[in-house]
Parts: sequence; structure tokens; C-alpha cells
Amino acid sequence: METKIEKVNPDRIDEEIIEEAGRLIAEGELVAFPTETVYGLGGDALRPEASRKIYAAKGRPSDNPLIVHIADFSDMERVAAKVPAQAKKLAEAFWPGPLTMIVPKGDAVPYETTGGMDTVAVRMPGHPVALELIRKSGCLIAAPSANTSGRPSPTEAKHVAEDLSGRIAMILDGGPVGIGIESTIIDLTEKTPMVLRPGYITPGMLAEVLGEDVIMDPGIIAADDTRKPKAPGMKYKHYAPKAQMVIVEGQEDAVIAKINALSAQKRAEGRKVVIIATEESKAYYEADRVMSIGSRTDEDAIAQHLYKLLRECDEVQADEIYSESFQTPRIGQAIMNRLLKAAGHTVVQV
Ligand code: TXA
Ligand code: MG
Repeated sequence: METKIEKVNPDRIDEEIIEEAGRLIAEGELVAFPTETVYGLGGDALRPEASRKIYAAKGRPSDNPLIVHIADFSDMERVAAKVPAQAKKLAEAFWPGPLTMIVPKGDAVPYETTGGMDTVAVRMPGHPVALELIRKSGCLIAAPSANTSGRPSPTEAKHVAEDLSGRIAMILDGGPVGIGIESTIIDLTEKTPMVLRPGYITPGMLAEVLGEDVIMDPGIIAADDTRKPKAPGMKYKHYAPKAQMVIVEGQEDAVIAKINALSAQKRAEGRKVVIIATEESKAYYEADRVMSIGSRTDEDAIAQHLYKLLRECDEVQADEIYSESFQTPRIGQAIMNRLLKAAGHTVVQV
């Protein structure tokens, strides 16, 4: 299949292109599109064959459920058996935006879309191209991140093309995304609302709007495999570059010294070393390649650049990757969740 790639300016959406993309979705084909978090791979959420196509294109296990993207809150009633009161509050505060809610599944949603689960994940994305595509297609759009399963999520259309060219009908190129890590997932089917995947919207922000406690899935916090995360997708080794990655944590000077020592040792063995540093620290490192993720004081930039850098590590064929740790104040938990997975939880404390 030839994959058509179309540029779309989010501020001035080309009607003809978005109509063609919408038609493809309505016909059961797959279209990748930008959201504010990462690029998604969209298909008609209510059509089992479309969901099967999504799993096949990504090489994703079919027990890993998809998120249903909607453009109007009233569509929640089409996909949920029951809309919890909390959903309304959260939607008012955060939709359209980087929040996914898990609610009881309605009959209209096929089990192919929910990976066999009786609950469904729903999100209204905060991106004009995504919203217009949903509206023009006349469908609700099931969309996982538009990467090959196991690779970092795509934050630019070219990442999607690298992974899925020839496997899907169209890619809408709306430029680089704004947030760079996937949406926060909150499970509203638990007694206490539970965050299954940390993201830009923090448990504190959710608790404030709900006026009740919000807990983090213990399976996410566990640094090992002793507890399984509740979201099926969170158990897979994910976001991973091909090289072994090690995170070094501690005081800045000690981290720099340790990473440089590890780098020198590996390079003496003929290994290609890449270091993930910040604007502030990059000048102090020696390696085959030193990449800056942005300023340490700008956590939004760190989130935005993370996946792109992990893909670049593959591109330059790194053998070893050393990264600083980014325990930033607000979204540090979300950033570190991805980084730790990419490193297979290999952390050196200094
Ligand atoms: O930001 C995002 O959420 C992006 C954009 C495209 O919207 N989408 C995304 O989808 O990250 P995906 O498929 O890569 O990740 C969805 C996650 C998986 O970990 C999946 O297991 C979990 O959501 N999930 C989906 N439905 C679920 C359900 N009913 N119960 C528990 N977890 C669910
Ligand atoms: Mg994904």
C-alpha cells in the first residue's frame, strides 16, 4: 500500500485534505494524525476490522486496548455503559486535552477495540487537526500511538513514516507535537480514581478538580516486576531504543564524573557511546555523541524532546546510552516513567 503524506497547517486546515482523510477512516482505512501529546494511528473505533488493522500495522499484541478519541462530550454516551459523574467534572476541566478516562464499556464498542476488556479508554484530544478529523470522518476514532510496537512514540510525522510507511493509507503531518509524552490515563471504574499512566496532567491536578483522593497505580511506581500495572500496555517493554541505556542519578558533579568514566571505558572497548545531557551540562561530557534534551529548568522541553532523542540514538547506531535523571517538579514522574522503561530500569546511583 502506498502511504500518502499530507502537510496540514493546524491554524489553517486544508478542507480538501481533511475531508479525504475523514473519508478514508469512514471506509475502514487507517490514517495517522497529530495530537497534542504524540501522533496517533486512527481507525473507526466501532468497526472491528479497523481495530484489527491497527494491531497488524503496529505489530501490537491484540490484548492491548486502544483509546477511543471523541470530539464532543456527548459522544461519551455512545461508548460508555455509564458516564460517571467524575467524567463530567474532569472533561470540563481538562478536555480537549491530554487526559484519557477509563469507563465501563458500552455495547457499541467492539471487544477488538478494547482488547477484550469490559472497560473503554476515552479521550478528547486538544489538537485542531485531530478534532477536525474526528468530525469530518463522522466516526469515533480508535488510536494508539502511531509507532511500531516497542519503539518510542512518534512526536513528528517523519517518525510515523519511519515505522508505518507502506502499511497505512495516509499520514497527516501537522508538525512537531506540543507535549511529547502520552496522555495521563485515569481509571474511573475503581473505588478510588487511579492513575494508570502518568502524564502532563498530574494526580494533584485531578484530585483538586474531583475533590477526592486520586491514587497512582502501585504497578507503575514499582521499580521492578513484582506488581503488574493495570493498563495492559504499561507492562510491555516500551519506548526502548535498541542500545542498552543506563540512567545515572545523584549530585550533578558526581553524575558527570561517573558518566564520563563509563563513557571512556566503553569507548576504549570500541563501543559507540551516546550521552543524554542538558543545555547546562552538555559541555562537560565526552562521548561519540552528546545530545541535549533542553534546559534542566524547562521540564516541558524535556518531555517534548525525549522520544525524538531516543529515536536519534537508534539512528546513530549507539551501542551504549548514558542519561542524566530528570526528577523535575511537576511532570518529572511522567518523564521518569518513560525514561526508566527505555532503560529497562537500569539506574546507577552516585
Ligand atoms: O496521548 C495518548 O494517549 C496517545 C494519543 C494518540 O492519543 N495514545 C496512546 O495510545 O498513547 P496507546 O495505545 O499507545 O496507549 C494506550 C494505553 C495502553 O497502555 C493501554 O493498555 C491503555 O492505554 N488502555 C487502553 N484502554 C484501557 C482499558 N480499558 N483499561 C486499562 N488500560 C487501557
Ligand atoms: Mg503507545
